Amino acid sequence: MKKLQAPRGTQDVLPPYGRRRLEVLEIADEVLGRAGYEPIETPVFEDTEVFARGVGESTDIVQKEMFTFEDKAGRSLTLRPEATAGICRAYVEHGMHKLPQPVKVWYAGPFFRHEAPQAGRYRQFTQIDAEAIGSDDPSLDAELILLLAEIYERAGTGPAHLHLSSLGTPETRAGYIEELTAFLRAREGELSEEVRARLGQNPLRAFDADDPGTQAVMAEAPRLIDRISAEDAEHFEEVRALLDSAGIAYEIDSTLVRGLDYYTRTVFEFVSERLGAQAALGGGGRYDGLVEELGGPPTPGVGFAAGIERMLLAAGQVDADRGIDVFVAGSGRDAFVLVGQLRQSGLRAQMEQAGRSLKGQLKQADRLGARWTVILGDAIEVKDMDTGNQQRAGSVDEVLGMVGG
Ligand code: HAM
Repeated sequence: MKKLQAPRGTQDVLPPYGRRRLEVLEIADEVLGRAGYEPIETPVFEDTEVFARGVGESTDIVQKEMFTFEDKAGRSLTLRPEATAGICRAYVEHGMHKLPQPVKVWYAGPFFRHEAPQAGRYRQFTQIDAEAIGSDDPSLDAELILLLAEIYERAGTGPAHLHLSSLGTPETRAGYIEELTAFLRAREGELSEEVRARLGQNPLRAFDADDPGTQAVMAEAPRLIDRISAEDAEHFEEVRALLDSAGIAYEIDSTLVRGLDYYTRTVFEFVSERLGAQAALGGGGRYDGLVEELGGPPTPGVGFAAGIERMLLAAGQVDADRGIDVFVAGSGRDAFVLVGQLRQSGLRAQMEQAGRSLKGQLKQADRLGARWTVILGDAIEVKDMDTGNQQRAGSVDEVLGMVGG
């Protein structure tokens, strides 16, 4: 029979790595929870319009990467490629602007993008996402950056460079794009063929070009960060001052554009040296027009998302086996009852469930990293797996006393 496989670009999470992922979620819950971010959940699929309007029609995500399908009534639905648009849809739908602001939420779950799979890039991946909606206070931008850095540190992802910029407003950005396009047109002859072909669509991409001629032109090109309004520049100054006061290092990267259309003002990305081509550990920014775009009142917001798979790739393999407290060598009802009592007293306990010989059971206890093995025979013997000492127990209570239950 044909062997069945997980779909291309998806991954099975097998033990013991499932535990590592849980640990990362626990870290996120603790770090974000202390700062007032509460768990939220939104559906895995949404009306396609949520992403078309939210993420932006012109982005690669919406144009090429969405898993879109029709339901039985012919409505267009899409597996969410990211969390922010869905969370803002929920914010509007549930009138959350009436709550005390900002509304701070966080979330982890699966996301879907039809990208070419490679190390660190999958078609189903997992993000930790945090959002603060309803205030444009620069302390929220800085707070989210610091919380993300703390999550990385506690998860052991190793050093990551923080890239930071400000995109201003859609209006100042449009003016800048016009200026940049005119600048590039005037020096078209010096640009690579590829950049020239895409000039009309997205001239910002020219900043990422590898071609030396294009790079020489781009070194002299006008920068968006010098064209943002005085108000936005002041906001950015304050975000920087707060980050400076927290002692976190960052690099102003005026070519940082990010792949989503909703960003305004602050944008940031953490880039890891430990990852290959897919080096972005996570990122985010401010989206002061998104809630309104989705039908709500004008409402600022800021957030981040971090890919769990990339975090674990950067952290490297860590032994996730934690061993057990007690292995009960013995099967049948007595063993079943004893293992239940051990678990109820808070111990990690397992019993023989595959018909092994006594020798095989002791080997299994070793493999599981058991601290104690209880051998049920004519009498009850308790073996200390560290010292090898074996002692007789007269009753179940005595067993519990010996193994610390
Ligand atoms: P993003 O930069 O598109 O931002 O994704 C955030 C992170 O998700 C990336 O840095 C990466 O770690 C992970 N990621 C993205 N695509 C893949 C993939 N195909 N395979 C594996 N990991 C991936 C957002 O999604 C925004 N919603 C972030 C945000 C929240 N902005 C404001 N609030």
